[in-house]
Amino acid sequence: VTVCDVVDRRGAITDGELALVEDALREAVVSNVGLLSRAAEHIILSGGKRLRPQLALLAYKALGGPDIAEVIPLAVAVELVHTASLVHDDITDGSDLRRGQSTVNARWGHTVALLTGDFIFIQLLRLMSVLDSRIIQGIADCCLALVEGEAEHTLSLGDTQITEEGYLRIVGQKTGALFSACTELAGTLAGGSPDQVAALRDYGLHLGTAFQIRDDTLDLTSTSEELGKPVASDLRQGKMSLAPLYALQRSECAAEVLSSPDSAQAERFLQSIGAIDYAMKIAAEYAGAAKQCLRALPRRKATAALADLADFAIARAR
Ligand code: FPP
Ligand code: MG
Repeated sequence: VTVCDVVDRRGAITDGELALVEDALREAVVSNVGLLSRAAEHIILSGGKRLRPQLALLAYKALGGPDIAEVIPLAVAVELVHTASLVHDDITDGSDLRRGQSTVNARWGHTVALLTGDFIFIQLLRLMSVLDSRIIQGIADCCLALVEGEAEHTLSLGDTQITEEGYLRIVGQKTGALFSACTELAGTLAGGSPDQVAALRDYGLHLGTAFQIRDDTLDLTSTSEELGKPVASDLRQGKMSLAPLYALQRSECAAEVLSSPDSAQAERFLQSIGAIDYAMKIAAEYAGAAKQCLRALPRRKATAALADLADFAIARAR
């Protein structure tokens, strides 16, 4: 099951609407320098879920937005922010695999990857010139949260003293803020009331948090074939998440098991003391909170699809 399947079931977004996003994304990655075009296209067309653009389209429709063309630049912008951040993230994480294919850094080296991330980010700036200033401000704020959240996560590498609240705050910034921008800004464009726009903002924040917690547990329990990206990389880097934090608080031997290179053993250990179940319980609470926010919105197909995405965020296997 993919994001598109989930949204399709409700018939909330048409193929034609998705095609508008795809066309604009393709256009956005054309450079005068062939290598930049190829590298940017490599990541943009690598089969991403397009979750963030669909969140923007659904939030716009949930509030009865009158003209879908109005929300397309936002939908494209959020995918460009996400893509640029992934290109840079794969450099800093030293990852060679993303979406089942080689990363830009693995294929063309760090310098080209750095420039490709910059290029995608600059194409985003150019695209933003058509947006109104409230939306530009919102996108800029979420980019700031993203880079600050990522910086905080990096500064906390190896810090086993980080609290659960500290982890959740970082997740809110590095993932929640962009999800929240998708839904909140789309709600603003649709002309929603302040309460409706606030509900969409909180929905996005909770959904993003649930989604990232699930991402972090998959890193511990899945295989790289299943995920199309390297696994156990967080533990290797000393990047904390809920399950290891839970284990460290409850078991004397956790630090040793989690720092050993045997990731299968680490997974068995985390499963056996209930750390993965615990993390997923918290993810389910965030998904539930996200769904609660939707009660402030009109009941439409798009609203139902947003609720389904909250279930999908935690049920997904990749
Ligand atoms: C993925 O995390 C990374 C992020 C959610 C944010 C990364 C942000 C930056 C690199 C800052 C630069 C930002 C811009 C806009 C250019 P992860 O490593 O946990 O996920 P993964 O398992 O998919 O790699
Ligand atoms: Mg990464």
